[in-house]
Amino acid sequence: MTPSAPANRPARRSRRTLFAASFVAAPAVDAGRGVELYATNCASCHGSDLRGTDRGPSHLSIVYEPNHHSDDSFRSAIAQGARAHHWNFGDMPAMAGLDDDEVDAVIAFIRSEQQRQGFEPYERP
Ligand code: HEC
Repeated sequence: MTPSAPANRPARRSRRTLFAASFVAAPAVDAGRGVELYATNCASCHGSDLRGTDRGPSHLSIVYEPNHHSDDSFRSAIAQGARAHHWNFGDMPAMAGLDDDEVDAVIAFIRSEQQRQGFEPYERP
């Protein structure tokens, strides 16, 4: 016991605002529309349940959480494709034919599933 430590000190620290690294809420896009667009354009490699296939990785991997792969990196992967660098599936081809709203809807759907289902640890195959 330290005699100088007051026994009943107000817990000032606990009042500090915590800035959690979390999802930005309320996108103005329609995640519901993204379900279909995802199924048509992404599911063949990333899996209809987002958990990946033998052609592409799971979007529920912690690698794809928003602080590591931002929405912009999703946009860039869709527009330009992505070189294999996290996994051994090969390169992702560019996905032509989605307009900006459709891309936003796909991303919104993936983010909502990430939030709903949570993330898997990263395990390189
Ligand atoms: C033909 C298979 C295929 C299709 C279709 C596909 N992807 Fe991919 N995607 C891949 C592979 C393989 C990788 C992994 C590259 C690596 O090793 O990091 C990947 C990686 C990604 C990444 C991470 C890019 C980065 O910068 O690391 C994002 C984001 C992504 N895909 C989103 C999508 C979305 C959204 C769609 C649908 C619009 C889609 N992909 C369709 C195969 C595909």
